[in-house]
Amino acid sequence: MKKIKEVKRPLRGELAVPGDKSIGHRAVIFTSIAYGRSRIWNLSGGEDNLRTVQAFKDLGVKMSQEGEALCVEGKGWDGLCPPGKVIDCGNSGTTMRLLSGVLAGRPFVTTLDGDASLRQRPMQRVIDPLARMGAQVLSRNGKGLAPLEIRGGNLRGIHYILPIASAQVKSAIVLAGLQAEGVTVVEEPQKSRDHTEIMAQAFGVKLKVEGERSVVVEGGQRLSARDVRVPGDLSSAAFFLVAAAAILGSDLVIRGVGCNPTRSGVIDVLRRMGAGIEMTRQREEAGEPVADLRIIGKKLRGVEIGPEMVARTIDEYPVLSVAAALAEGVTTICGAKELRFKESDRIAAMTRELRSLGVQAEEREDGMKIEGRSRLQGAQLSSYGDHRVAMALAVAGLSSEGGVEIDDSACVDISFPGFFDLLEGVSAS
Ligand code: S3P
Repeated sequence: MKKIKEVKRPLRGELAVPGDKSIGHRAVIFTSIAYGRSRIWNLSGGEDNLRTVQAFKDLGVKMSQEGEALCVEGKGWDGLCPPGKVIDCGNSGTTMRLLSGVLAGRPFVTTLDGDASLRQRPMQRVIDPLARMGAQVLSRNGKGLAPLEIRGGNLRGIHYILPIASAQVKSAIVLAGLQAEGVTVVEEPQKSRDHTEIMAQAFGVKLKVEGERSVVVEGGQRLSARDVRVPGDLSSAAFFLVAAAAILGSDLVIRGVGCNPTRSGVIDVLRRMGAGIEMTRQREEAGEPVADLRIIGKKLRGVEIGPEMVARTIDEYPVLSVAAALAEGVTTICGAKELRFKESDRIAAMTRELRSLGVQAEEREDGMKIEGRSRLQGAQLSSYGDHRVAMALAVAGLSSEGGVEIDDSACVDISFPGFFDLLEGVSAS
């Protein structure tokens, strides 16, 4: 149980958030399958990234901590060995889906499992393309649910059109495609985050992005080791962006945040709602755009968040629904049914919890309708074990009468250890 006090003054200060979770997973994967010694800086200590680290250790990759860097001794694809035990992906969908792509090409059997939430999440979306490439993937009761048993090897390239935009599925196919015979093409209905494409190229992979939404990769490529500095996670920064945006007069700076345009929908939406967000010290790290973000709290107004925003904003809807609850007027979210298949059903979870906070919120099949109010009611809230729901509710708590209590709040450690301390720091200063 975590108590969040109501704050009666603007938020102030400067902070840094943990390394980007998506980029962190890919850094561990690419350094593990490359030839040679790489170092990774600013890898998040969150449980999800640690699951990927442990998975590759289980597959025989040597890793050690060298000062602040994680040092990875890659021995190429053939350096991966049968793990001799079930690989536990914990709560991490990215670990399970991307690892499926890696293991689809390895000539041994592996079992991937996860916690109760991950065991409910749809895996058929990776099983289908990997099976078409020649891998055998068995799922629980044949229902496309974990645990998955993967018998890999002898893959052939395919041309695959994703029914739903997904960076995880796209990445799994690219990772399998790198080990396949011939060319693999993945096409998406909407461009999802492109960290895999950026990092693959940084590791020496020849890969083409055609017409924005297609990725073309040839099999049989060898990757060379390189160092990676992981930028700060915009999805983690988003909780502070909304916290400051919603409290009049706030002025916060978040240093070193990854601002890849395939991820930055939250900045666009908050600006449309009236928030002042400035990007300064713009630079590039590991081929990714990075900036310091300065956010000024202003009166927010409700907006329409349409289907065109989904891929670029997917993980930020829980906290954007809190911004909507504190904005003047109505906000509608639509075309976002994918939210039902995340760490929890985020449409159901946020509608229920916003109602407990006294907000008029309507649940829709593919989104929500939210009527804003200037102050929320104090309440006892549930995170449903979902880290992003827990953090979104904590942000809501700052603007609630007398504060809130959130149960099952330890799940914030999945992506953002130290979140509550940082939030307290900027609320108190
Ligand atoms: C991720 C992609 C997104 C996102 C998830 C991380 C990734 O999922 O929701 O938190 O690292 O590729 P989908 O690509 O399945 O939508």
